[in-house]
Amino acid sequence: MSNLFLTGNFAPATREETITTLSVTGRIPDHLDGRYLRIGPNPVMEVDPDTYNWFSLYGDGMVHGVRLRDGKAEWYRNRWVRTPDVARALGERPSRPNHRAGNHMIAANTNVIGHAGRTLALIEGGTAGYELGEELETLGECDFDGTLTGGYTGHPKRDPVTGELHAVSYRNLGRDVAQYSVIGVDGRVRGTVDFDVPGKPVLHDIALTENYVLFFDVPLVFDRPAAVSMVVPDWMPRSAQLVLSSLLGKVSMPESVAGRLMSRDRVGATNDYPFTWDASHPSRIGVLPRDGVDAGVRWFDIEPCYVFHTLNAYEENGSIVCDAVRLQGYDGDAKYDIRDAFDSASPTLHRWVVDLASGKVRESGIDDQVQEFPGVDPRLLGRRHRYGYTTAGTVNLDPTREQDAILRHDMEQNRTTTHSLPRHHRAGEFSFVPTSVDGAENDGVLMGFVYDETTGLSNLTLLDAATMEPMATVRLPARVPFGFHGNWVS
Ligand SMILES: [Fe+2]
Repeated sequence: MSNLFLTGNFAPATREETITTLSVTGRIPDHLDGRYLRIGPNPVMEVDPDTYNWFSLYGDGMVHGVRLRDGKAEWYRNRWVRTPDVARALGERPSRPNHRAGNHMIAANTNVIGHAGRTLALIEGGTAGYELGEELETLGECDFDGTLTGGYTGHPKRDPVTGELHAVSYRNLGRDVAQYSVIGVDGRVRGTVDFDVPGKPVLHDIALTENYVLFFDVPLVFDRPAAVSMVVPDWMPRSAQLVLSSLLGKVSMPESVAGRLMSRDRVGATNDYPFTWDASHPSRIGVLPRDGVDAGVRWFDIEPCYVFHTLNAYEENGSIVCDAVRLQGYDGDAKYDIRDAFDSASPTLHRWVVDLASGKVRESGIDDQVQEFPGVDPRLLGRRHRYGYTTAGTVNLDPTREQDAILRHDMEQNRTTTHSLPRHHRAGEFSFVPTSVDGAENDGVLMGFVYDETTGLSNLTLLDAATMEPMATVRLPARVPFGFHGNWVS
């Protein structure tokens, strides 16, 4: 059977390109002055087709970007993030790794954002993020000027009022502790709070409100035995292996030690899916006061599920409303397999209302179409939103959908507007970019990469968020493989 992650538009790009002649149909709004950037796993070396998947250690990060200015598309570029392994594979001299920034088992491949004048390629689980230049060249590991060690996260949330980044980071090995951090507008850590989260849940994303940070502690957990076996050397006597395994699971190592231990050379990289479904793990939402040092996490039980991505959250009448894409719990009792899980998990848009006084949570479905990559107007992050945006289609492995679509959910009218792409066109994540600081909520552009199966080429599609009609298409003489997350960096 062919490997899904190596076929069609999942297949990795094989080279880096710089293209400065791009044809555009429609009109690119003049106010767009910046880069649309998107990142994803893209192995630089050949991988084992029997086992490779998007979450394996071989998913080297590749970032794709389109520069827009004065109504024109100036360039398209794609670049691998230069970890030491990637640099070596490309025949370049690797820079000396900064182990304090995190381990180097994988390249940053999860999200790419702009903050404090920098472009950051990010990943979770204790792996080092990287800083990129204006033309997507790798500048070095990202440790926020040495103020944050041991890795960050793929999904920080920016408060639109303060401009600060809020995040929850966790590490795949070491103690069961997560860290809430706030990065100031100067790009340096302003504060951190550590809290206990037993069982190594995958804390992929968070939600932010004016006063709280929320996260889903649900039964998709890091497969610690598998991970430990990766970093324990084969040549060790069995008794020593057991002692080291036990220590690796329970103690926190200094970043410099963890970083050296968890490098790809050393672990003999595996393609296994590193997460597992642990039915004994609780499903609950953690609520932590923002900036609340020692205030502690309050936990609220919810129906078993998994949540990769939140759309938004806000406070209202003593409750917190949180919209997110919910995946069904996994029924299988065998080892969790990423392909089975994606086939059966049916990600749908869901709402949780957390009553802070009674401790009860009300749940309801918003839209039961298979969809992912939820987003909201960044000006309303943490505040009440009316509209939310998602992608429905091939990238979510939805076999029932004939045409990929971008969805706009109107939470007030309880109505979903669908922009169906032309047949054989496949979409990834779309990002909302407001027209102005004080414009209406849906006054803006939705943008994302679209792949045309008939030509084998991709384009950057711009939709008018108010009408959900096409605004402009930047045609690329290149294929942009499906990937994870993207953002407009102005
Ligand atoms: Fe994500």
